[in-house]
Amino acid sequence: MNAPAPLIAGNWKMHGTDASLAEARAVGEGAWPDGVRVALCPPATLIERMARALAGSKVLVGGQDCHPEPQGAHTGDVSAEMLAEAGAQLVILGHSERRAAHGETDATVAAKVEAALRAGLEPIVCVGETLAEREGGQALDVVTRQVRLSLPDSVSTHPFTVAYEPVWAIGTGLTPSLADIEAVHRALRTALVDRFGETGARVAILYGGSVKPANAREILAVPEVGGALVGGASLKAADFLGIVAGASGA
Ligand code: PGA
Repeated sequence: MNAPAPLIAGNWKMHGTDASLAEARAVGEGAWPDGVRVALCPPATLIERMARALAGSKVLVGGQDCHPEPQGAHTGDVSAEMLAEAGAQLVILGHSERRAAHGETDATVAAKVEAALRAGLEPIVCVGETLAEREGGQALDVVTRQVRLSLPDSVSTHPFTVAYEPVWAIGTGLTPSLADIEAVHRALRTALVDRFGETGARVAILYGGSVKPANAREILAVPEVGGALVGGASLKAADFLGIVAGASGA
């Protein structure tokens, strides 16, 4: 069975204006191992300009969230169809910052995944335990429950990606041990195979949380780690390309 192509995705969060497109262009001009997929997910306002700036490059462009409905009276929200029309091919869903700051439940995330599929976007579905959950020995239970409830049955016939992002490792400079990353990724793989059979065996499971050029290669070499979701270090092309260089093609 073919291993999934590794994906290195940059999550720009609420960073990025016109001036930042130079960094995106520099990523587009970079080189990386064959078979590795590279994506940048800027704020929604920048998607169309970034997609234009990266036209002709191999870099995919993604959103960071979408509303479950295609349109409607939802002030401030953006639908999956709108992201796709702007040039997005992927969308991050269920990031812990959205779960925490916007009260997103697993059911909300599952509805958003349905929306992404409807619009032809590849969802990157995030799961991860808090520090209290890790210290309470619940990390594996939490992430397997999140992955089960955040993925609707319909994903099995579409491309999708899962990202394991321990909440306490995001933006903190802390990372789990390689053994802990492996244990969680193996548990997620088992949950995905139990649920989706062969499809679940082929889904890329990204690691996210304080990935940087200095630790990317060792993290990306951990069994069942199929790429990285990168926040802070994706804002500078040199750092992001340094991470991409640590991935090996499938
Ligand atoms: P970080 O963020 O790389 O800055 O830790 C990762 C993420 O939130 O996706």
